[in-house]
Amino acid sequence: METTIVTLTDEKQSEEAIREKIHAAGQVIRQGGLVAFPTETVYGLGADALSPQASRRIYEAKGRPSDNPLIIHISNMEDLKKITKNVPGPARKLAEKFWPGPLTMIFEKSDIVPLETTGGLRTVAVRMPNHSIALRLIASSGGFIAAPSANTSGKPSPTRAEHVAEDMTGRIPLILDGGSVGIGIESTIVDFTEGTPMILRPGYITAEMIQEVIGEIRIDPGLTARDAEAHPKAPGMKYRHYAPKADLVLVEGSREKVQRKINELAEEALGEGKSVGIIATEETRAGYGHGVVKSIGTRTDADSIARHLYGVLREFDQLDVEIIYSESFPASGVGQAIKNRMQKAAGHQVIEV
Ligand code: TXA
Ligand code: MG
Repeated sequence: METTIVTLTDEKQSEEAIREKIHAAGQVIRQGGLVAFPTETVYGLGADALSPQASRRIYEAKGRPSDNPLIIHISNMEDLKKITKNVPGPARKLAEKFWPGPLTMIFEKSDIVPLETTGGLRTVAVRMPNHSIALRLIASSGGFIAAPSANTSGKPSPTRAEHVAEDMTGRIPLILDGGSVGIGIESTIVDFTEGTPMILRPGYITAEMIQEVIGEIRIDPGLTARDAEAHPKAPGMKYRHYAPKADLVLVEGSREKVQRKINELAEEALGEGKSVGIIATEETRAGYGHGVVKSIGTRTDADSIARHLYGVLREFDQLDVEIIYSESFPASGVGQAIKNRMQKAAGHQVIEV
């Protein structure tokens, strides 16, 4: 299959031309095809959420296990009730406050949502993304786009159209290029189907921000458990995921000790003939004397770390690095989501110094 990449960021394009391109993409989805598109979190791989066959194509293109449910993306509040059965008051409040935005909520599904889209579950995950291309594509495709992150299953999520092309060329007909995404890690997921709402995946919208709006919120205990045997409730969170090809090892502790330890480990690995990568920050990068050192962002701005995380992992993939040592970052605010993704990418290989 030939894959076309359509650029929507060229400033010389007329509004009319952009509208036409998005409309054509919407037609591809209406006809059961796949279109990768930008959102504010990561790129999504979209298909008609109400078509069992279209959903199946997503699993095929990603190589994703068919029991891992998809998020349905909507572009207006009216459409929420068409695909759900029961939206509790606190969920409405969160939607009012954070939609469009990086928040996904799980409800009982209505009958029009096929089990193929929900991985066989009676519940459905819904999100209204905060990105004009995404919102316009959803509207022009009929209103309901099922979209996982547009990476091959198990690889880091794509934050640029080039990342999508790396994974999906030859597998899907169309990629909409909207430039780099703003946030860089996937949405926060909150489950409303079992009593007190529960965070199943941390993201840019933090537990504190949710608490401020609705009061009580739980966090899936399976998320914070150290042993890999604990089972998170979101099926997708149980896989080793977001993973680079190289072994990733996180080093935690005070800045000086972490730096000393990473230098030691890197020297050792180089001595064994391995190619080594190091994930550092603007503030710390100069302190390393071995291997390929990449800055992931600045410590004074956690958002910058979230934004670059997956791109840096992909860059190391391209360099065929065999082992990556990474600094760890503060776990407050969006830092919680960063920590969660890094631990998963590391398959829980953490060294404390
Ligand atoms: O930011 C995002 O959420 C991106 C963009 C494209 O919107 N999408 C995304 O989708 O990250 P995906 O498929 O990569 O991750 C969806 C996660 C998986 O862990 C899946 O198991 C979980 O949501 N999930 C979906 N539906 C669920 C349900 N009904 N119950 C529990 N977990 C669910
Ligand atoms: Mg994903």
